[in-house]
Amino acid sequence: MTPRPLGQTGLTVSPIALGAMHFDGIDDEAVVSRLLHGALDLGITLIDTARGYGRSEERIGRHLAQRRHTFVLSTKFGYGVEGVPDWTYPCIVQGVERALRVMNTEVIDIGHLHSCPLHILQRGEVTQALADCVRSGKLRVAAYSGENAELAHALADDRFASVQCSLSLVDRANAAQRPALGSAAKGLLVKRALAGLAWARSQRPDDFCEGSYWDRWQQLALPDVGLPWPEVALRYAAGQPHVSSVLLGTKTLAHLQAGIDAVQRGPLPAEVLAVLDDAWGRHGRSWPGIV
Ligand SMILES: NC(=O)c1ccc[n+]([C@@H]2O[C@H](COP(=O)([O-])OP(=O)(O)OC[C@H]3O[C@@H](n4cnc5c(N)ncnc54)[C@H](OP(=O)(O)O)[C@@H]3O)[C@@H](O)[C@H]2O)c1
Repeated sequence: MTPRPLGQTGLTVSPIALGAMHFDGIDDEAVVSRLLHGALDLGITLIDTARGYGRSEERIGRHLAQRRHTFVLSTKFGYGVEGVPDWTYPCIVQGVERALRVMNTEVIDIGHLHSCPLHILQRGEVTQALADCVRSGKLRVAAYSGENAELAHALADDRFASVQCSLSLVDRANAAQRPALGSAAKGLLVKRALAGLAWARSQRPDDFCEGSYWDRWQQLALPDVGLPWPEVALRYAAGQPHVSSVLLGTKTLAHLQAGIDAVQRGPLPAEVLAVLDDAWGRHGRSWPGIV
């Protein structure tokens, strides 16, 4: 995979990343180890995790400490530090220190505020804490993860050098935040690119996000475009302007390989994009981004 720049941070990342949110469900450490090592062996150079993803951070630290220098490590902060209120200055600073310990590393490459609400962003304290962690060398890149007005706030704040947001066939609101989002100025990591696999589900999922995506998928009623939907979804996301990487949340190396293969085929053909744009224009314009 040809590496892409993470905005102007000086880091480069593979266009498909391993999203480490889902594998907390795997109990066998040998399976987790094979998945993590296998991802790196496939050429993945970015792994995304979070404080809130169960054992994910700890397992990355346990299994990949020897290969730490070969990949960009991204995680998220803002909550879950014992004895410290969420979304405060000490919660960020101690959260970074905790993550360094748990992930067995001396520096974290990308640290996101994880869906930090707008009024807290406006207070400024947690953004400053993240910036101070960059200054002290514990963190390379201060980043924001979220959507809509919160994302707009982060895009306008120079202290954030990278952002993470939803962007998919059924969730394009964040793309409307161009030119800031679609400029090369900040790194851009895409989550939820597979739209909750809405095309593959016969019934509406209970989960809020997946259920909302399923509703949208029914409304868009996209015709068959002659390519498998996972491929369309990944090529759509990876083909958006200045996307640094698409986070693929998989527990199987075969799906990771399929994602890599899809993105290697390049952006979608113009006629497929036209079909997607037409449906979005008729139904999706007012739909907000979903976290
Ligand atoms: N910042 C945030 O708030 C936030 C929120 C959500 C996600 N994220 C990040 O984004 C990553 C991706 O998460 P996501 O929820 O957006 O998941 P996703 O990558 O959109 O989809 C994951 C699901 O798709 C399946 N899948 C993957 N490749 C497939 C293929 N080729 N064919 C069929 N099914 C396939 C996976 O099943 P298998 O396991 O069987 O492959 C899994 O069930 C997360 O790991 C996390 O790093 C961040």
